Amino acid sequence: MTRVFSGVKPTGHLTLGNYLGAMRQWVAVDQHRSDALFCVVDLHALTVDHDPARVRRLSRQAASLLLAAGLDPGLCTVFVQSHVDEHARLSYLLECVATDGEMRRMIQYKEKAARERVRGGSVRLSLLTYPVLMAADILAYGADEVPVGDDQAQHVELARDLAVRFNQRYGHTFVVPRATLPGVAARVMNLQEPASKMGKSDDVGPGIVYLLDEPDVVRKKVMRAVTDSGREVVYDREARPGLANLLEILAACAGGEPAELAGDYDSYGALKKDTAEAVVEVLRPLRERHKELCADPGYVEGVLREGARKARAMARPTVDAAYRAIGLLPPVAETADR
Ligand code: TYM
Repeated sequence: MTRVFSGVKPTGHLTLGNYLGAMRQWVAVDQHRSDALFCVVDLHALTVDHDPARVRRLSRQAASLLLAAGLDPGLCTVFVQSHVDEHARLSYLLECVATDGEMRRMIQYKEKAARERVRGGSVRLSLLTYPVLMAADILAYGADEVPVGDDQAQHVELARDLAVRFNQRYGHTFVVPRATLPGVAARVMNLQEPASKMGKSDDVGPGIVYLLDEPDVVRKKVMRAVTDSGREVVYDREARPGLANLLEILAACAGGEPAELAGDYDSYGALKKDTAEAVVEVLRPLRERHKELCADPGYVEGVLREGARKARAMARPTVDAAYRAIGLLPPVAETADR
């Protein structure tokens, strides 16, 4: 059976980008055909300036949204990263395999560190080492596939490199994973700035559709999306990025191919209207189910408790094997002390 691992970071409210780029595939495909784990990766939320109460709140919300989107704990394992020590345990070993040059080449690090410096803030060391922790998330479970949006592909590539290097140096220990990207909407762009990714960690913006936005808010955001000058509706990511983004969102929500859908429209207004309605319809059941889950926090807690128990049992043997392989002594059994 294919082992799948993926995660979402509670640094902000989840967006349409998270849903179309990742969660939708987890629900529709990955949880059914695989031995799959989906994780709220809360340790990753500490890599930038954070408010502890907000991280707790967003972690609970992210877990509820994963379930509301349709992850079924009967089919897959849903859990919170910090509930399973194996992630941090393995991360240190992988830091001893990765190089600082490799870390500094990561696009997200360069972008986020530059932003942080512009704000006059300091850059946490964990922002630099974050991709190693992400590699540990993946390798601890022996994941074959990592379904992510396009922005995470470089990090999964690093996880591959670290797995191969570790195996070559210390003997075969890790499965070498690969990223799987959705066919359409692998990079949903900000509706107001089609050159930037729709990112949840960004400040609230009219260009970001949040999964819990009210239908009228979604409509307003889509109707006000920046499009490009020109009249014809054509699909061209380079020349007409705003339009291409809408066509991809429509294709992802309502089916079809962006280039073909373009032929169905002779005005931007009509395209926006249909896109807005398609997004509202995709998000409707998710919002309703989320409301039900909020009324039953005990259920979500139970899912996370059981998820952590299962995840721990899956990760432990691989992480223990890595400790042995790299040269650390096995813990001395108590009886042997006497
Ligand atoms: P995160 O929390 O930023 O995003 C979660 C998932 O959503 C995808 N995504 C997008 N896809 C398309 N368009 C967008 N605008 C968009 N925004 C986000 C992301 O690609 C991702 O798949 N580092 C990861 C979390 C992580 C992880 C892992 C993922 C930590 N450990 C191990 C997989 C395996 C992150 O920050 O995702």
